[in-house]
Amino acid sequence: MNIKQQAGLKAAEFVQSEMIVGLGTGSTAYYFIETLGKRVAEEGLNITGVVTSNKTKEHALSLDIPLKSLDEVDSIDLTIDGADEISNDFQGIKGGGGALLFEKLVASNSDRNVWVVDESKCVGALGTFPLPVEVVKYGSDRLFRKLEKKGYKPSWRNTELGDRYITDDGNYLIDLHLGQIESVYHLSKELIQLVGVVEHGLFLDTVDTVVVGKKEGTEVISV
Ligand code: 5RP
Repeated sequence: MNIKQQAGLKAAEFVQSEMIVGLGTGSTAYYFIETLGKRVAEEGLNITGVVTSNKTKEHALSLDIPLKSLDEVDSIDLTIDGADEISNDFQGIKGGGGALLFEKLVASNSDRNVWVVDESKCVGALGTFPLPVEVVKYGSDRLFRKLEKKGYKPSWRNTELGDRYITDDGNYLIDLHLGQIESVYHLSKELIQLVGVVEHGLFLDTVDTVVVGKKEGTEVISV
């Protein structure tokens, strides 16, 4: 079993019957969802999932995990998702898999958020991983130039075929190559105030528990 698998297995222990569970996106959340699917099939675990992407929806449906949309539930008990970077004060960058908008919608409507990562995601300060910004298509070239002028070193997120990546909500993604982010709160506020920005990948004061897969075993950190 690899590190991500072990961490996914551990994260699934947080789920109890009758819960409404946010289902994250990415290669680590994948293993959590696999384990959850097994528990639904083998233990009769009775849960309802709320997905964070079309990809996760397909995966959950293939495992017969019952699903509802965010609008169909009153609240979400627990969301388990991956992350691209977690700083030592537990702020995060997400969206490497392109799902940051739905991930943030689900996270911000959850009573509790658990991030499941391998140890490479734990960093001192955020910013080495490119910060994804989801933008509406109309006027996005102008917005790109604005971000360039600000010195944020933007690049378009592209598909393997070289086309612009389109999110589940039909928007583009711009990745900012920032190096180290001085003030995450300031940047978060600045980005969300730019007209055309739908959401960005800074997830601040979101996580309650981090499950870290390490070579020597899985660590659970309460924030
Ligand atoms: C997708 C995400 C993922 O949670 C993040 O990219 C981590 O993915 P992985 O577990 O594959 O490294 O934010 O938008």
